[in-house]
Amino acid sequence: MNANTNSASPSGPPGSDSDSLPDPVNWDAHYLAGDTPWDEGYAAPALTEFLVHHPIRGEVLVPGSGPGHDVRALAIHGAKVTGLDLSPTAIELARSYPKAGGEQYELGNLFQLSDTWNARFDWIVEHTCFCAIPTPARSQYVRALADLLKPGGRYFAIFYINPKAPTGPPHGTTREEISGLFDPDLELLEEWVPTPAFEGREGRELCQVRQLRRSGLF
Ligand SMILES: C[S@@+](CC[C@H](N)C(=O)[O-])C[C@H]1O[C@@H](n2cnc3c(N)ncnc32)[C@H](O)[C@@H]1O
Repeated sequence: MNANTNSASPSGPPGSDSDSLPDPVNWDAHYLAGDTPWDEGYAAPALTEFLVHHPIRGEVLVPGSGPGHDVRALAIHGAKVTGLDLSPTAIELARSYPKAGGEQYELGNLFQLSDTWNARFDWIVEHTCFCAIPTPARSQYVRALADLLKPGGRYFAIFYINPKAPTGPPHGTTREEISGLFDPDLELLEEWVPTPAFEGREGRELCQVRQLRRSGLF
């Protein structure tokens, strides 16, 4: 996937009065044009494999959920899943699929959510959202996720470490960068290089399970 191809005019996310960093990619224009090379038509293989042995239940957030394949894979297993995306067209597309379980889709920018979203989720499941946001926004991304998790909440991530695309998005990363960004707020519990992967992503991903360090206000 390379969202820079045929990139539309720069546009910030809906709600221009925010203090979030501008995103040069107009995600909705990509969905409107059907230019979505990241959409493989089914859930991330590493997530599907993880769910076989590790049930994810409770309130789950999938940020940057796009067409919602990962959302529905989680919902089939009994989670109450919210797919969040800033593209109205992606949300409409996701809602057009038959219901898999207790999933819902909400239009919104991860960096501009109201306080009512705070501490709402038992799990956040990440796949191709971290690599999609501008790299200067990465610290802000981690803070946003930490605010959204319940005390002790967990984070399952499929990081796209080493994408083929010469320029992002997808923006690559390193294990060291991930540790520096996430370790202060989210303790690493497990990590592995997933074997099942979309074609072309084999050996380029890193899965991690992390847990929020904050245990509550008191
Ligand atoms: C590369 S696409 C991946 C979509 C989906 N995860 C998949 O694999 O098919 C990145 C998605 O993140 C969404 N996105 C980017 N920045 C976002 C933000 N700040 N808040 C919410 N969604 C965002 C885009 O609209 C897009 O749907």
